[in-house]
Amino acid sequence: MAAPKRERWGSRYGFILAAAGSAIGLGNVWKFPYVAGENGGAAFVFIYLLCVAVIGLPVLVAEILIGRASQKNPVGAFKKLARNRAWMGAGAMGVVGGFIIISFYAVVGGWTMGYVVEALRGALLDFNSPEVAEQQFDALNANPWWVVGFQALFFGVTMAVVIGGIKNGIERFSKLLMPVLFVILAVLIVRGVTLEGASEGLAFLFSPNWSAITAGTVLEALGQAFFTLSLGMGAMMTYGSYLSDRDNIWSCAVQIVVLDTLIAIMAGLAIFTTVFAVGLDPAGGPGLIFQTLPVVFNRMPWGGLIFAPLFFVLLTIAALTSSISMLEVIVAYFVDEMGMSRRKAVLIFGGVAMALGVPSALSFNLWSEVKLFGKTFFQLADFVASNIMLPLGGLLFALFVAWSWGWNRALPELAKGAERYRHAWFIAVWKVLLKFVVPVLILVVLLNAIGVL
Ligand code: TRP
Repeated sequence: MAAPKRERWGSRYGFILAAAGSAIGLGNVWKFPYVAGENGGAAFVFIYLLCVAVIGLPVLVAEILIGRASQKNPVGAFKKLARNRAWMGAGAMGVVGGFIIISFYAVVGGWTMGYVVEALRGALLDFNSPEVAEQQFDALNANPWWVVGFQALFFGVTMAVVIGGIKNGIERFSKLLMPVLFVILAVLIVRGVTLEGASEGLAFLFSPNWSAITAGTVLEALGQAFFTLSLGMGAMMTYGSYLSDRDNIWSCAVQIVVLDTLIAIMAGLAIFTTVFAVGLDPAGGPGLIFQTLPVVFNRMPWGGLIFAPLFFVLLTIAALTSSISMLEVIVAYFVDEMGMSRRKAVLIFGGVAMALGVPSALSFNLWSEVKLFGKTFFQLADFVASNIMLPLGGLLFALFVAWSWGWNRALPELAKGAERYRHAWFIAVWKVLLKFVVPVLILVVLLNAIGVL
């Protein structure tokens, strides 16, 4: 069967938006604040930023590069570029990781959708104190139908978009709506910073207490850097496979990283000023934003009526532009390698992922006491995928480009669309990082975390 011509992004701008849409999501607004909160604040934030710059950016460039060079899904990419077929395992791990991540991500995506409904019903207007907000969050989650139902709805929308192709739906949508999310975050920051007691939040976020750092903290920071940039499972590789040779990978990657980091820091500012001002525990866990933000909204004129529903709508969209990138990896694999139609791949494997997600949804109610290695299904899926599989995937991608594929192939590919950067200093830095620094750092952190080192 002759392969149909592969789809392309409309423009370089379209790619940056889609990739930024993948990167910016619940990882920035939901996960970053609560993980930072659980890990002592500023010191964690510092290590996270370091991981983003020293490990994240080089791996992002490597992933986009492999994708564009091969024009394939992660498994097909290694089949095409690698001399040794064993590298396909790195791509396969990405596809498996996609199933795991989307399974728990959709639970949180479902929460944001559920909160849109609560906001529109006016129910969030009662969330006037952190205690009430926390009780209400727990009460909603106590109902498995609420969690599973919205999770299924979130999956449904994700699948519908991926079936329809990305270019004309979500890409256009996010172009319009992402700037609005940015503005709302800015408004939330202004409100947060002007609350009495907000300075404690700023100190928590920006003045480090180094004694709080443990090996676990560093692993979390590394995992967060991978998660927030959508790295380590071939999502950026797959998006890169739709990129044309005229586009400059370097400048795309830098813009993606800057946008993503900016949004995470903005979310941190909005959340922590409020958390401290209203006396919440920064280590409040996955419910953190759902228990703090409604309280701030209610302290703004019109906040509860206008900003709250708008915010949760936009967060839902940010989450959707990320979840479609996870599903796209899975679908691209079955379309490219198994010759399946896009529609069939979405329906079958979206369904499988949805079923795999049910235990994560039940972790907040019926199965809250069911634990493996001391973690609920939700926590375990997040931990294994984000903190182990993503860094491991990133390690393999870096090793492949730097040690197996060879600079004589990688550098000319990188120079496409970026002729004038051919001898730039940052390419030299990138080579050193990818060849030595990235692998060694990831290995040390991983080995340390599993107790070998
Ligand atoms: N980066 C997204 C976020 O911050 C999540 C995400 C999308 C992702 N695609 C991914 C994470 C691929 C890991 C791998 O919400």
